[in-house]
Amino acid sequence: MSKNNVRHGEGETRRRGDLEPERPESMFSFSKLSPRHRVTVSPRRVSSGLRVVTFAAFCLLAAGCGVRFDMQDQPRYKAYKESDFFADKRGSRNLPDGVVARGFLKDDKALHTGKIDNPNLNAQVQTTTDASGNTLVSSFPNDIDEFPVPVTKELVDRGQDRFNIYCIVCHGPVGNGDGMIVRRGFPQPPTYHDDRLRNAPVGHFFDVITNGWGKMNSYADKLSAADRWAVVAYIRALQVSQNPEETLKMNSSANTNSAAPAAHGSPNANTHGGER
Ligand code: HEC
Repeated sequence: MSKNNVRHGEGETRRRGDLEPERPESMFSFSKLSPRHRVTVSPRRVSSGLRVVTFAAFCLLAAGCGVRFDMQDQPRYKAYKESDFFADKRGSRNLPDGVVARGFLKDDKALHTGKIDNPNLNAQVQTTTDASGNTLVSSFPNDIDEFPVPVTKELVDRGQDRFNIYCIVCHGPVGNGDGMIVRRGFPQPPTYHDDRLRNAPVGHFFDVITNGWGKMNSYADKLSAADRWAVVAYIRALQVSQNPEETLKMNSSANTNSAAPAAHGSPNANTHGGER
């Protein structure tokens, strides 16, 4: 009995089945009680008690199966269970086309893709070739050139924070492409400070972070769209920090706020494991 009591939440059938072999043990457990609590119960009385419990359990089971239809008894498939109802035998169905989870409708295209509204997929792109023979894309006809979010100091600060977690390891503290992983042998990324990337629209940076670029992975699973824009704003600030003559290209379609340059970090800052 004692053993039986601790088994919460198991099916009635199993409980019934378990009772039989345990009969001798439950008899002995009575004698293990302290003398004050000890009661004399004959084996015959124990087993008849068990029979009553068994019978009650059986009644409950019968009631559960046949008579009551509570929500807890509703017909349903367990995940990945086979189904005879559907032609393809899969109980787990695909979502209907076009279904979007509540709160996940990415209807602001500029914010979520960094692309213009009607991209021309056949637009010719210019390319240049770098010293090591890599082909570098240098025109970005389908990328937006204005931030789709207000550019504030908070945005740039947030971008600095995320950049120093996710990007500094390869791109280095100011974006020269001399991060610690690169010094240990990873292919060197291009500097952010040549004409090509200084003139690249903000949508291109967003695209690189979102979808990856060549040897670089996507960071879309680590940075929300808002955080990706924050990192792009910080890259712009880094660009100005290295080219003080440059005008700050922080135009935003969301409002006209411009953030002050917020570049920090010296080229050697990450020899100490980053700034933060
Ligand atoms: C593991 C190393 C690594 C990390 C981390 C990394 N990158 Fe890169 N990144 C690269 C490499 C390598 C390239 C060059 C890829 C190529 O051209 O094949 C690159 C290229 C780029 C480019 C230039 C694309 C172009 O047009 O040539 C940008 C912009 C960029 N990364 C931004 C970022 C940002 C922002 C982050 C952080 C969210 C980041 N990267 C994190 C390695 C990295």
